[in-house]
Amino acid sequence: MKALDGVKILDMTHVQSGPTCTQLLAWFGADVIKVERPGVGDATRGQLRDIPDVDSLYFTMLNHNKRSVTLNTKDEKGKEIFTRFIKECDVMVENFAPGALGRMGFGWDKIQELNPRMIYASVKGFGPGPFADCKVYENVAQCAGGSASTTGNLDGTPMVTGAQIGDSGTGLHLALGIVTALFQRETSGKGQRVECAMQDSVLNLCRVKLRDQQRLQHGPLNEYSQFGEGISFGDATPRAGNDSGGGQPGRILKCRGWETDPDAYTYFITQAAVWKNICDVIGKPDWKENPDYAKPVNRLPKLNEIFGAIEDWTMTKTKFEVMDICNALNIPVGPILSMKEISEDESLRQTGTIVDVEHPERGNYLTVGNPIKLSDSPSDVLRSPLLGEHTDEILKDVLGMSDADIAEAKEMGAV
Ligand code: COA
Repeated sequence: MKALDGVKILDMTHVQSGPTCTQLLAWFGADVIKVERPGVGDATRGQLRDIPDVDSLYFTMLNHNKRSVTLNTKDEKGKEIFTRFIKECDVMVENFAPGALGRMGFGWDKIQELNPRMIYASVKGFGPGPFADCKVYENVAQCAGGSASTTGNLDGTPMVTGAQIGDSGTGLHLALGIVTALFQRETSGKGQRVECAMQDSVLNLCRVKLRDQQRLQHGPLNEYSQFGEGISFGDATPRAGNDSGGGQPGRILKCRGWETDPDAYTYFITQAAVWKNICDVIGKPDWKENPDYAKPVNRLPKLNEIFGAIEDWTMTKTKFEVMDICNALNIPVGPILSMKEISEDESLRQTGTIVDVEHPERGNYLTVGNPIKLSDSPSDVLRSPLLGEHTDEILKDVLGMSDADIAEAKEMGAV
């Protein structure tokens, strides 16, 4: 048994945000029926290809455990079949440009009329307001959600981050909305509309920066490096480089080999509770009791000097030696791991976070498994479907169509 066994998802998603959401639901056991345009499919099948004519890793890594049916939802016969899917499924998920589902003739009113128990979940770039009609991709959301203006070096341009907080981050939010709506349906008996705007999701992940925006009205942000450097604050939360952003100052520091290895760095947190251990390990025992260094508040204006001394020590060790030594002393540190190192990490394979998958056309590839581990609902990662691989099977077992009906729909170009 899987947690979402028996839940049928009509998956109208494409690219990254929506597919992230439905992949999670599939890992929890839902039957995710990915609807794709005949002969075309999700655009990402053909984007960033590494092997000619083979579904890209972009597609395969976001569409595991799903079944694919081709259906032209703009064609009359296709609409008739789509209507039957709406009646049979529990959830419909989509992330088309604003208004696309309505233009197909399937707005929220129509869906409720067809299936009052249906949960209709959407990702859009923006919520209601001046930008509601805009198409949005990842980096637009990072910029509009406050992430880019608060990321990067103080004297540099705004910076987007590699973590896909706009796309995958919104997909995660949407998945929570869907399971919450399924839970409420248990008592209400009704479906509901679930909407996640990418701008809102990014802002939710940036809420500490909105916290800092308000703190600015009451004085400088003492834990930011620029405080100790005597650089005045403007009227908006600044870019904070690699400052920790929390109550325990932290920085990225060089480790042995940094001259040739771009990832020979560690993140080092000067947690107040282990300050004495830090002083001992870096060879500054006098800082333990010295009133200029002993209390966190006295250290804030001196972070450059303090992290400089710590870096003198970390540069004598590899990032993994720093990890071993500091971990034993309860000092929170973390090696900067490259994607190569992560892909070769045996412990991540053992937990199912990194998974090898066999694909009939591309062979073996690596992917990221379900990061959410349920003890009673383990996630097996199954390869992504080929375009329309399950069309006949789905039309038969979900809609009860006969071979003759299916042949007719194919002849009409609907599937
Ligand atoms: N049969 C027939 N038509 C189909 C179809 C099917 N099975 N599936 C999709 N289509 C149509 C849609 O109805 C739409 O047609 P329309 O514009 O005539 O109404 C069209 O295909 C494509 O939709 P659209 O979403 O506009 O694609 P796009 O490639 O131009 O835009 C995005 C891509 C991501 C910018 C846009 O979908 C978007 O802004 N989505 C919301 C935000 C989002 O999720 N962004 C992140 C993506 S990772």
